[in-house]
Amino acid sequence: MAKAPARFVCDSCGTHRQQWSGQCSACGEWNSIVEHPTPSTAANVSDVVAVPLAEIEDDASSRRSTGMAEFDRVLGGGLVAGALVLIGGDPGIGKSTLVLHAAASLGTRSSPVLYVAAEESPQQVRMRANRIGVHASHIRIYPDGEIGGVLAEAQRINAGLIVVDSIQTVRAGGVTAAPGSVSQVREATVQIMQFAKSSQTPVVLVGHVTKEGTVAGPRTLEHIVDTVLYLEGDDFHSQRLLRSVKNRFGPTFEVAVFEMRGDGLQEVANPSALFLAERDARAPGSAVAVPLEGTRPLVVEIQALVAPTVYALPKRLASGFDLNRLHMILAVLGRRAGVRLGNHDVYVNVVGGLRLREPAVDLAVAIAIASSERDVPTGPQVAAVGEIGLSGELRSVPSTSQRVHEAQRLGFERCLVPRSRTPSSGSGGLSADSLEHALKLALS
Ligand code: TYD
Ligand code: MG
Repeated sequence: MAKAPARFVCDSCGTHRQQWSGQCSACGEWNSIVEHPTPSTAANVSDVVAVPLAEIEDDASSRRSTGMAEFDRVLGGGLVAGALVLIGGDPGIGKSTLVLHAAASLGTRSSPVLYVAAEESPQQVRMRANRIGVHASHIRIYPDGEIGGVLAEAQRINAGLIVVDSIQTVRAGGVTAAPGSVSQVREATVQIMQFAKSSQTPVVLVGHVTKEGTVAGPRTLEHIVDTVLYLEGDDFHSQRLLRSVKNRFGPTFEVAVFEMRGDGLQEVANPSALFLAERDARAPGSAVAVPLEGTRPLVVEIQALVAPTVYALPKRLASGFDLNRLHMILAVLGRRAGVRLGNHDVYVNVVGGLRLREPAVDLAVAIAIASSERDVPTGPQVAAVGEIGLSGELRSVPSTSQRVHEAQRLGFERCLVPRSRTPSSGSGGLSADSLEHALKLALS
């Protein structure tokens, strides 16, 4: 067979090109173009035959549980055979802990888990396992990141799952670039995927998201893998959200909530209760919103503080909420609802470290601000759902009745909703015509 023609790839941005050059014309990086062997597929082509669709097995039966119902739900009902799953997230957020929990449940005597610990020493993995109470003997630690060796070992031990922690530390033979570079990471991932599909072994890849986004991050892999999950959270809160942003085998934008404890990640079956745990309903400036995370409504406290300003330009600060959206709400409050804050600082905080991006939480933010300005608490049973329009009208949002239901489940009997989308009678949603009307209902 003729030698496959070489191609060149920019190690910085991943652009393919026919010729080598000193500078990448796409990203402007110098000396970043490296030669890349073209994967040869020609030799296998003749073996491939088309299979009738009806004879292909349904994959529902081949899903395996990670031992964590929340994790399974985000995956779409468990781990599919041959699936390539990428778990991304900031360093230190808990990715290794999460996959170790899953590995403990998925390994069996006849098909153990191959855990590629190229980033940490086997001792470090052992210490983490002790800490989270995992004593499974069906996890095999493989301390090297050369991908040929990894796949050979997986075959030798008949691995039922491969965990690669992290993909940035693996190397592929034949690629000259440094480990962690785009071309190394890609080539390794393509080889892993070919193995996963041909052997029907599921693979979980762990990837760090770098703040700058310049180093080969998992983002370059998103189109290769089947499923992309992100573990989110921050250093100051113990809640962790596992979010699916791509899933060939299940729903996207599904969310699971975990709590990082001293003994590992624990599933939070009732996340709303966690986000409300420290709420003092008698304090002015507190309101309850019901954002939708994935397909699931969450009940979350929003706090606001309004105080006379000492600055020439009053301060506006939003944590967990979009600042521009806050400015808009303040303008509407001033012009349409008589809550004038031109001489006041306004601080808004979403409790629990969540970041809310949905307009459906507008109304709760406005109520929290008005409650603080008037120094009147909202009733203990009041929650609010609705988008605020520029004329002070309330706009309906998706899944209103689902949200009302979740709020009521947690004891918020008076859930304010926009008039146009009042859930059918008996569901208990309290309809408001406008922002002004909603403020009257909430703060009376
Ligand atoms: P880790 O899973 O190593 O994060 P990643 O793989 O995403 O880099 O977890 C990192 C942090 O979590 C570490 O700072 C310590 C903390 N942690 C706990 O609080 N409890 C635990 O049981 C474990 C294992 C870690
Ligand atoms: Mg780790």
